[in-house]
Amino acid sequence: MIQFEQVCKHYNGQPILSDLSFEIRKGETVVLMGASGCGKTTVLRCIGGLEAVQSGNILVRGTNIARAPKGFNWNRYRSEIGLVFQQFNLFPHLSVLENITLGPVKVKGQPRDEAEHLAFELLRKVGMDTKAKRFPNTLSGGEKQRVAIARALAMSSDILLLDEPTSALDPLMTAEVLRTIQSLSHQGITLVIVTHELQFAYRVADRILFFHNGSIEEEGPPRHFQGPMTNPVARQYFSLLTEGYEKSIL
Ligand SMILES: Nc1ncnc2c1ncn2[C@@H]1O[C@H](COP(=O)(O)OP(=O)(O)O)[C@@H](O)[C@H]1O
Ligand SMILES: [Mg+2]
Repeated sequence: MIQFEQVCKHYNGQPILSDLSFEIRKGETVVLMGASGCGKTTVLRCIGGLEAVQSGNILVRGTNIARAPKGFNWNRYRSEIGLVFQQFNLFPHLSVLENITLGPVKVKGQPRDEAEHLAFELLRKVGMDTKAKRFPNTLSGGEKQRVAIARALAMSSDILLLDEPTSALDPLMTAEVLRTIQSLSHQGITLVIVTHELQFAYRVADRILFFHNGSIEEEGPPRHFQGPMTNPVARQYFSLLTEGYEKSIL
């Protein structure tokens, strides 16, 4: 579904992604982990068609978007990838329902009644169907984020990219959003999730990719990260998440 082949990206001579290769299969749930600045968001933005790279190939649904053919319809491509960021970015002047139907109606030209029918189906999936008429400022952070997930799914039924979807939420809201994401992981959607929530990553991931300085240092199923790791950077990151920060500041 998604394949990176020797992708290199730099900003002003500073390497951001270094010779990066990996593959994500259809329906797989892959979690990207690693310290701030290691390139996780950049990877999601590349998949979403929001970043150019200097070399390598990025195949998404069979199309090499790193070397897109002349006249490639980028707006259409971008509209067919579901992206959820840390900040919910709902339109404040639109109801929950309108937030979800806007893209399908305006960008994809879907008939309004069809778009609303799908929106209700997706709102049910994220447990928000009773709040379709509400406006974003009347929702909690966790509810806003669940609406943002439904909105992303309305644009793309097969690829959903989530960039630290719970990092702006308190623990209760985090739990409700993580539950929602977990329920999606069994539905054939290809999920790529950036998170530092270790127990969630262990539960939901088919595979975890651990990034450091723009490349993958460790990769494997969750149990690989629960055992002893040879890579010192990965070992430190996972032991801080497992044992908490207290030990390192005492
Ligand atoms: N627009 C930009 N211009 C310059 N450097 C950037 C830009 N966006 C990201 N970077 C740099 O790229 C590196 C990777 O960033 P990012 O992908 O956001 O990392 P992460 O999501 O893992 O924290 C960082 O060093 C960051 O400073
Ligand atoms: Mg990031």
